[in-house]
Amino acid sequence: MTIPITLAGTSALVTGGGAGIGRAVAVRLAQAGANVAVTDIVATAAWETCELVRAEGREGIALIGDMTDPDQVDQLIEEAAQRLGGVHIGVNNVGMLGKHTAAPFLEWTARAMSDVVTGNLLATMYSCRAEATAMISRGIGGVIVNVTSGETTRPAVRLAPYGAAKAAINHLTRTLAIELAPHRIRVNAVAPGTTLTHDVAARLGAEYRQALKASIPLGGELSDPRDLADLVLFLASDLAAHTTGQFLLSDNGAFLSRSRPELTAG
Ligand SMILES: NC(=O)c1ccc[n+]([C@@H]2O[C@H](COP(=O)([O-])OP(=O)(O)OC[C@H]3O[C@@H](n4cnc5c(N)ncnc54)[C@H](O)[C@@H]3O)[C@@H](O)[C@H]2O)c1
Repeated sequence: MTIPITLAGTSALVTGGGAGIGRAVAVRLAQAGANVAVTDIVATAAWETCELVRAEGREGIALIGDMTDPDQVDQLIEEAAQRLGGVHIGVNNVGMLGKHTAAPFLEWTARAMSDVVTGNLLATMYSCRAEATAMISRGIGGVIVNVTSGETTRPAVRLAPYGAAKAAINHLTRTLAIELAPHRIRVNAVAPGTTLTHDVAARLGAEYRQALKASIPLGGELSDPRDLADLVLFLASDLAAHTTGQFLLSDNGAFLSRSRPELTAG
């Protein structure tokens, strides 16, 4: 007996799918049979991911815009739904520190706090609303997966606004799981371990990277973007048909570790 994971006949949308984890998610969902819309603020990045989606034999569409602007979010997600025959799977991946660096709380300016809360919590909230609206208006049910952070499992020292914004997304996820359940929409949150995307690999100091690696309970390297993509694939599939309102990590146990080092550099 084989147990297939297939997303054949579905359409997915990945926000911030032009790079890093979002790109890996877009490709993985396409490999499982989904057509994929990729939103990104950087046009070339979205186009490149769409090429990878098409190389898997699926339809890939690039939607360029800023997911922190609620009007653009509504417009882009409705466009995706119209062009792909609905959005069955919404992966809200836009986030991160943007141009800001980790710093003690008292050094965070109001502007930096606002940017980080907007770029993580509000971007996710706007996307959830637009995806659920598109799903409900077509009566197709669906799955929403919000990307948060392992920093929500412990005090996010030097990352207070980021940790707070991501923790709020976990709470939003549980609330929406209840509110959207009557529409057959499941809502879950996922988090990667520290993941060697292009930007993170370039930013991590060698000493900190080694200390992080040494603290991982299951051993091995820091996370790869494909690790989280596999978790998203599971949650998007019917194998997770009874799973909603949950927060799951794919981090080799990293955030369970008592010896995980605090962030010391941007
Ligand atoms: N990489 C990690 O170690 C790590 C760890 C924990 C959580 N995360 C979370 O995973 C998610 C993805 O992180 P990543 O490291 O792959 O990021 P990344 O910076 O490599 O890629 C993010 C993509 O989103 C796009 N983007 C950024 N702001 C946007 C906006 N306002 N509108 C549209 N597109 C926008 C960027 O252009 C980029 O293509 C984020 O939510 C992040 O907080 C990452």
